[in-house]
Amino acid sequence: MRKLTNLLVTGGAGFIGCNFIRALLENTPDFAGRIVNLDVLTYAGSTENLAGVEERFGGKRYFFERGDICDRELVDRVFSAYGIDTVVHFAAESHVDRSILGPAAFINSNIIGTFTLLEAASSAWKGPGGAWREGVHFHHISTDEVYGSLGETGSSPEDAPYAPRSPYSASKAASDHLVFAYHHTYGLPVTLSNCSNNYGPYQFPEKFIPLSIMNILAGKPLPVYGDGKNIRDWIYVEDHAAALWMILRDGKNGNRYNVGANDEWENIKLLERLIAIICRKRGLDPLAVAKTITFVTDRPGHDRRYALDCGKIRRELGWRPKTGLEEGLERTIDFYVSRAGLDP
Ligand SMILES: NC(=O)c1ccc[n+]([C@@H]2O[C@H](COP(=O)([O-])OP(=O)(O)OC[C@H]3O[C@@H](n4cnc5c(N)ncnc54)[C@H](O)[C@@H]3O)[C@@H](O)[C@H]2O)c1
Repeated sequence: MRKLTNLLVTGGAGFIGCNFIRALLENTPDFAGRIVNLDVLTYAGSTENLAGVEERFGGKRYFFERGDICDRELVDRVFSAYGIDTVVHFAAESHVDRSILGPAAFINSNIIGTFTLLEAASSAWKGPGGAWREGVHFHHISTDEVYGSLGETGSSPEDAPYAPRSPYSASKAASDHLVFAYHHTYGLPVTLSNCSNNYGPYQFPEKFIPLSIMNILAGKPLPVYGDGKNIRDWIYVEDHAAALWMILRDGKNGNRYNVGANDEWENIKLLERLIAIICRKRGLDPLAVAKTITFVTDRPGHDRRYALDCGKIRRELGWRPKTGLEEGLERTIDFYVSRAGLDP
């Protein structure tokens, strides 16, 4: 079991990062350490996602540093000022559509940013004789998208070949390769996780679930790509956070873990579930809302289906998702309803 005392969480003001920080500080009794959140606050990140955390833990167990992970001087300063022993690396450009319109930011943050962190960790954690300091660890968060699109059946295990097909997934694949290269070449202690599509509170409403919820609540059209039959495995973000904590604590050095809920849904079916739940909660007419579904031109190169084989994390670490889709969607909807200033 790793000690995990001074964590550098990158991208902690974004969707999964803020849920992870909340889970650790508010809900994980066996974590007694400190968290430094390094985030440049792009459009996707906001300190409001951590409202309450700063007040309760700020200056004691939680510290926020605004800055770019590509800024080596800044990253070096953070490592030394806080005595960082663990990196939990979320920071990335994360939206596939944006990567198609403007890949440069993805190459920069996802590849150069990861490289900068690996270099900074190496220089902070290696002693003069070249030995790694005791207890240091680098965890990299990646995606199922690096394995590429699957057919109608089957799932990707941890040793599946990489086949990224969008600038986003290609940049994540590059960062994954760099992390393992630092492990194999220099001995940096690392773990890596590839997770399926997350949903839950604090996700920026450009992604499918929060966008659809906000549009249903506002009576706006509901865009669906192509024929709506692309399939994704959906995991509630708190289950992902719990998996990350288990990997950080007990994951084997140099190993990769797939994290998913084995809950595959076609986009159109998922949207129908959202419509049904919101209409029930808010007394809306589901048929009228369903009429606002608008099929739009498909995303270029849109991957048809991703699915992960998550047997390894179940067997080795005993992790299992706890939140079923229905419950997770209810909780997510309640969050956006309350954020929109409507009665839950
Ligand atoms: N959302 C998903 O479904 C999903 C699934 C699997 C893996 N992931 C991975 O999880 C991680 C987090 O995803 P998310 O959905 O929370 O993303 P997000 O877009 O909501 O948040 C990303 C955060 O990183 C910050 N950031 C971006 N570039 C930065 C830089 N150069 N320096 C410092 N901070 C920077 C942003 O300000 C933001 O707060 C990403 O690495 C993503 O690839 C996401």
